[in-house]
Amino acid sequence: MAANRSSFTGKIGFVLAAAGSAVGLGNIWRFPYLAAKYGGGIFLLIYLILALTFGFTLMVAETAIGRKTGLSAIGAFKSLDKRFSFMGYIVALVPAIILPYYSVIGGWVMKYLFGFVSGNASGMAGDGYFNSYIGSTVEPIGWFFLFIGLTALVVLLGVEKGIEKVSKIMMPVLVVLIIVISGYTIFTMDGAVDGVLYLITPDFSHFSVMTVVAALGQLFYSMSLAMGIMITFGSYMKKDISITKSAVQVGVFDSGVAFLAALMVIPAVFAFSGGDPNALQQGPGLMFVTLPKIFNTMPGGNIIGVVFFIMVFFAAITSSISLMETVVSIFHDKFKLNRKLCCLIVLGISLLLGIPSSLGYSAWGSFKILGMQILDFFDFASNNLLMPLIALVTSIFVGFVIKPKMIIEEVEITGEFKVKKFFSFIIKYVAPVFIVLILISSILNAFGVITI
Ligand code: PHE
Repeated sequence: MAANRSSFTGKIGFVLAAAGSAVGLGNIWRFPYLAAKYGGGIFLLIYLILALTFGFTLMVAETAIGRKTGLSAIGAFKSLDKRFSFMGYIVALVPAIILPYYSVIGGWVMKYLFGFVSGNASGMAGDGYFNSYIGSTVEPIGWFFLFIGLTALVVLLGVEKGIEKVSKIMMPVLVVLIIVISGYTIFTMDGAVDGVLYLITPDFSHFSVMTVVAALGQLFYSMSLAMGIMITFGSYMKKDISITKSAVQVGVFDSGVAFLAALMVIPAVFAFSGGDPNALQQGPGLMFVTLPKIFNTMPGGNIIGVVFFIMVFFAAITSSISLMETVVSIFHDKFKLNRKLCCLIVLGISLLLGIPSSLGYSAWGSFKILGMQILDFFDFASNNLLMPLIALVTSIFVGFVIKPKMIIEEVEITGEFKVKKFFSFIIKYVAPVFIVLILISSILNAFGVITI
C-alpha cells in the first residue's frame, strides 16, 4: 500500500473523505437511539465532553501517525515499534466485526426505501410494522444480501470514487432534509417540544456509568476512530494541511449531523408516544419505527420518505464501502492474495457473520449472548470492548513509546499546535486511566456483576 500511495487533492480532500466515512448510520440511526435510551441531555453533554477531549486527541494522534509513516494501521504501528505489530491485527478486527451487522441495518434501510417507493407509507407507519418485519426470517436476510452484495460490487469493480462523488452531493441535501423534518415535527406536533427539552436538558438523575460507556463507544464508532481508518486517511494527507483544523472540522460536522438526527427522531418519539419510557428504550429500531410515522402525517410525506431513505442509503453504503475496503486492503497486504479474491473472502465471512445478526430478531430470537441480541452483541464487542482497548493501547503507545513529541512535531509542520500541553496530558494520563475504568465497568455490566 505504501508504494504509489496517492494523496488527497486540494485542501478539503482529507476533510471530505474523513467526513464521508464518519457520517453514516452511526449518526442517523445509532446516535438518536442511544441518546433516547441513555437519558437525552445527559448523554449529549457527556458525548460533547468526550468529543472535545478524547475525540479530538485520538483523531489528531491517528492522523499524525498515518501521515508521519505514510502507512496504514498494520504497517504504521510496526514501523514505529516492532513490539506493537499486534495492534495492526486487533485494529483490523473492528471493521471486520462491524461490516456484517452494519449491512444488516443497511438492508433495513433498503427495505424502507423500497416501501416508500412502492407507496406503502401508511403500512410502514402502523404500530408493530417494524417488529413484525424484522421478526420475519427470510426477507431481512434478502435485503442484507443485497446491501452487502452492492457494497462488494463497488469494491470489486473499484468504482468507490464515483460513489463518493455522488454521496458528496447527497450529504448536504441529507442535512437540509433532516433539518426540514425535525423542524416540521417540532413546530407542528403536540408534545414534540418535550422531546427537544429531553435532548438538551441534562438530567443528572439519568446518569449512569453506562451512559459514559455508551457515549464513548458511540464517539469512536461515529468518528471512525480506534479502527485504523484515520491512520489510513492520514497517510494520504498532504503535509501542508493542518491536522488540528481538519480534526476539528470533521468532529464538528460529524457531531452536528448526529445532533440534528437526534433532533429529528426524539421529539417525534415524544409526539407519538408522549415520552413513554418504553418507546425511548426501543433501541436499534427507533429510527425505523418513528420516521414513517412522521412521513405519514407530513404533506408530501411519501416523496420525502423516498428522498430521505435514498440519502440514508448513500450515507450507509459509503460507510460500508469504507469498512469493506479497510478489511480487504488489510487482507491483501497481509496475505498477498489477489484483491478480487480478498474481496470475495471478506464478502463470504461477512455473509456468515451477518446472517446470525439478522436471525437474532426472528428465528434465533431466544438465543442471547450475555443477555444481548446477536446484533447488539457484535455492536457491543466492537464498540464497547475492542475500540476502547485499541484507544487505550494507542494512547499508551503515543504517550510513552513514541512520545507525544513525535505527534506534536508532525502537527506543527503547518504551524503551532496551540493545545499541545492539553493534548499530551490527555493522551498520557487521562485517556489510559479513564478508558481502563470504562472497560472494566463495561465488562462487569455485560456479565451482570453490577448494574450501573
Ligand atoms: N462512522 C460511520 C458511521 O457513523 C461508521 C463507520 C465506521 C464507517 C468505520 C466507516 C468506517 O456510520
